[in-house]
Amino acid sequence: MTIEIVNYADTESRIKNFSKDRYVDPAYMEREWQDLWRQHWLLAGLVSDVASPGDYFVFDLGREQILVTRTSTSDIQGFYNVCQHRGNQLVNDSCGHAAAFRCAYHAWTYDIDGNLSIVPYKERFTDGIDQASLALKKVHTEVWNGFVFVNLSESPEPLHQFLGPMKELLEPYHFEKMTVVEDQTVHLDCNWKAVVDNFSELYHVDFLHPQHKSMVDCCNDTVRLFAHGHTGVEVPGATVNPRFPVPKEPTAIQSVQLQSIGLDPADFEGRVLEVRRAVQEQKRKVGKDKGMDYDELSDDQLSDVWQYNFFPNAILSFTPEHCWILRPRPHPTDPSRCEFDKISLVRFADPQTATSKDAVLSAGRHYQGASAFLPEDYQRPERDVFHYDAVIAGEKTMTDTIDQDVELLAGVQKGMSSQGFGDVFLNEDEMRVQHFHNEMDRLIS
Ligand code: FES
Ligand SMILES: [Fe+2]
Repeated sequence: MTIEIVNYADTESRIKNFSKDRYVDPAYMEREWQDLWRQHWLLAGLVSDVASPGDYFVFDLGREQILVTRTSTSDIQGFYNVCQHRGNQLVNDSCGHAAAFRCAYHAWTYDIDGNLSIVPYKERFTDGIDQASLALKKVHTEVWNGFVFVNLSESPEPLHQFLGPMKELLEPYHFEKMTVVEDQTVHLDCNWKAVVDNFSELYHVDFLHPQHKSMVDCCNDTVRLFAHGHTGVEVPGATVNPRFPVPKEPTAIQSVQLQSIGLDPADFEGRVLEVRRAVQEQKRKVGKDKGMDYDELSDDQLSDVWQYNFFPNAILSFTPEHCWILRPRPHPTDPSRCEFDKISLVRFADPQTATSKDAVLSAGRHYQGASAFLPEDYQRPERDVFHYDAVIAGEKTMTDTIDQDVELLAGVQKGMSSQGFGDVFLNEDEMRVQHFHNEMDRLIS
């Protein structure tokens, strides 16, 4: 593992362990609400979900709900999802299209810019009613790379400042050109930070996800630590984990990767560790014909899996052809529960530039067999919401790997609550976990 510290000064005593209180204590949860959730830029959703004026989605965040809309001037704007008459929750669907937002209680109606446009029986407000002052309450909203961010504080720093160098590092992936192919939310019996921790280290991968040894090389990863608690890890892909015996023939996943770009796995017998470079070179060569533009990406980026964690709770795991948005959201009152979203995006081939129509460039190992082109009858999938029991029962899956994580996390929370456990004890491989919690410590007194 290589560690790079990017514009981040706190290089001393980075590993310092911390108390379990932050996972189980309601008082800590309250401080989190005040000092974290109400102060930070948060990834609320996708620009593609508010493509036209009147489109909206609701971002559920513990005790708050933010209604994000595309306004009549085509701006994207977040509002508290609250009617200004008597506080009823205004919109009940998670997403949709509206000509106006009408409260179900007394039919106060707001236009898509958030202005209060209709008040029934207005004359009954005998002291008059100042409609202009009763518009929906706005929250700061900014857009970057296809994502909508909101911030509930009064005067936040600009989003680009918060993202820092991650902004430029990730822009070449053009997440804004990716399309949603799956949208899931699972209810978990653990604190939201246990999910962030889980996606902040590779220490557990060899043991909890043994299948990964035939996919990625978790020994030669590069870790990046940024100011503001953000972290990144870059994991060599299209290869195998050299900690284990290297197979003679390419693995099943390598074979699919090779075939999808017109290479024969048989040519790599006894040369499994050369597959990664071959994949990079071939993608560079055939990418354009297959409607993929790799010009802004380095060779390593063409094969590798990157994962960047946007403090506090948005985790992006991606290759040039796909991205998972992994996002645990806090429960309104219970520190031992959270909701965990997984939104899967795929970069489909661009039919304008693709010269070979039969080209199938597998959109990453997660979507083998997915058509290279956006299907004509594409419809944005609805969110599937379930409890993690359904994953354990085999009724739902979030992929083998995430199922393994999800099945384990309630056990972590239970253990954390035990009198028999005190402090979390970390090693160098868990540096990103520590970095995240150092930022939590900085914010939460
Ligand atoms: S609470 Fe919305 S109209 Fe009365
Ligand atoms: Fe995991």
